[in-house]
Amino acid sequence: MKAIIIDEPGGADLFQERDLPIPKPGRGDVRVKLKASGFNPVDYKIRKGMYEGDFPLVLGADFSGVVDGAGDLVRDFSEGDEVFGMAFGPCSNGSYAEYLCVPAQFLAKKPPDLSFEKAAGVAITYLTAFQALVSKGALQKDRPLFLTGGSGGVGSAAIALAKVYGAGSIFTMAGSEESANFLINHFSIPSDHILRYQGLSLKDMAHQLIEMNKGERFYFALDFVGGKAKELCLEVVDFFGHIATVLPESDDFPIPVWGRSPGPIWSKSLSLHIIFVGAAAIAGDAKSWTVYKSQLGHFAQLFEKEGLMPPQVENLGELNVQTVQQAHQRLEEEHTKGKLIMKISQ
Ligand SMILES: NC(=O)c1ccc[n+]([C@@H]2O[C@H](COP(=O)([O-])OP(=O)(O)OC[C@H]3O[C@@H](n4cnc5c(N)ncnc54)[C@H](OP(=O)(O)O)[C@@H]3O)[C@@H](O)[C@H]2O)c1
Repeated sequence: MKAIIIDEPGGADLFQERDLPIPKPGRGDVRVKLKASGFNPVDYKIRKGMYEGDFPLVLGADFSGVVDGAGDLVRDFSEGDEVFGMAFGPCSNGSYAEYLCVPAQFLAKKPPDLSFEKAAGVAITYLTAFQALVSKGALQKDRPLFLTGGSGGVGSAAIALAKVYGAGSIFTMAGSEESANFLINHFSIPSDHILRYQGLSLKDMAHQLIEMNKGERFYFALDFVGGKAKELCLEVVDFFGHIATVLPESDDFPIPVWGRSPGPIWSKSLSLHIIFVGAAAIAGDAKSWTVYKSQLGHFAQLFEKEGLMPPQVENLGELNVQTVQQAHQRLEEEHTKGKLIMKISQ
């Protein structure tokens, strides 16, 4: 099969097209003939050696396609099923390829009305957003929430899920006119709920946001950007509120969590929710992986029956080195709107 592979950590110029054997499913695995593949920032972070990866690697953590083989222990899927899922962690080759094998706990049946292109943009971002917004129990109906990175993959998924779960007004931030328009046009976020952050100090950003929310701090703030954006979340969240974050920080991050020096987590009595979507995929066993299957299946139901908005996807092209390089360049700029995907087969 055709695959885009990288032999060692480094620049996007190291990607190569290679002919690899079509993988054989293990006893609990499903083999998927891929229709489309989604790109995520974690792809370029692994490529650069920021996270562990067992090189040579076929990257790619999101996919959609058609089942074309399964191990003898697989009960829920059979040949011809249209599916979407996650290929993150050591259980699978990545989705920059024509086929992948993945344990049956990492996929769900694709709703018929969801295109393969859109389905390939779901897994990582909706799982992450769901785990941040819903699984930890912090979302409260009708209460305003603030999230950073609303136009990006995870932020867009969080906005879509927040709407279905009945959150109150959604406030977010945008770094450009294009980003603000994306939020207004696709999610009907009012322009006075979008903080235009360029050139503003942390103090000014916090002040403007609280003013936008009628002088109130937020019960729940979600950080999908990290750094200053995380500091902003900590600044605008109210006493006894909740912070969810998907970004680790370096040791010199100014806000202490466990230390004795005073910081907003202790002084405001905040609940801090740390989300790592790959936790069970990387360190867990087959039993722990069922969380992915149940959440992906839940999204399929929400798309079909509750009007959950699918991702806004931009198709960058076919499976080849140029498409992958372009995707990595765009991801590294960190201003993606919605999701980037590539088409693998018709
Ligand atoms: N822990 C986990 O399990 C997990 C899972 C998935 C993703 N992640 C991480 O979460 C992050 C977001 O992922 P994604 O897929 O949503 O990325 P993405 O699609 O590239 O989105 C990036 C977002 O960041 C915003 N942004 C960029 N610079 C900013 C700044 N200086 N201040 C405020 N906002 C800024 C962009 O908005 P503008 O263009 O308007 O600036 C955009 O909305 C990535 O770092 C990714 O690796 C972690």
